Amino acid sequence: MTFMPVRTRTGCGLFAVILAATALADDSIPLPDDYCQWEVKDYAIDKPLCGLRGDAERGKAIATDGYKGNCLACHEMPVPGIEAYGTIGPPLNGIASRLTEAQIRLRVVDTRNVNPMSIMPGFYRDPRLINRPAKPYIGRTFLNAQQVEDVIIYLTTLK
Ligand code: HEC
Repeated sequence: MTFMPVRTRTGCGLFAVILAATALADDSIPLPDDYCQWEVKDYAIDKPLCGLRGDAERGKAIATDGYKGNCLACHEMPVPGIEAYGTIGPPLNGIASRLTEAQIRLRVVDTRNVNPMSIMPGFYRDPRLINRPAKPYIGRTFLNAQQVEDVIIYLTTLK
């Protein structure tokens, strides 16, 4: 199909919208078999991913592991023995008194639903939407659903 340019202001606007929409999902990348869909309501995700329940101890280990959550690269967290934190994100100390579990879930899953310009990785973002990920991450999420739920439950303990 050839695209006929429409030489009106609205036409150009429409073309820009179509371009933006096609840039959204790369359908050539299959979704992982175990990927569970999630739903955003009021800047939150109420239901745990895949119906899984998290574990706080595991979540703490994942959050502080530089090869997993790597949250400390950008956030201060109340973890004894760690002296250097990234400060590009707000401290997560006391996060559970500011956000509900469902609000925390959306921030960890895909915070661009809150702030489209965010530089925080969407740890359970639809992999087809991730722009030029490193090779090992093509077609997969940065953390799996259980790991994300573990991190969320850990954050709910930071009151
Ligand atoms: C590359 C930097 C970066 C990494 C890595 C990162 N974050 Fe963030 N995060 C941010 C920034 C920046 C914000 C501030 C809001 C925004 O810009 O989206 C933020 C916001 C948040 C918020 C909301 C805080 C509030 O007070 O509203 C939560 C919760 C959060 N991050 C959790 C995490 C967790 C858990 C991890 C690790 C699994 C993590 N982040 C990894 C950069 C990062």
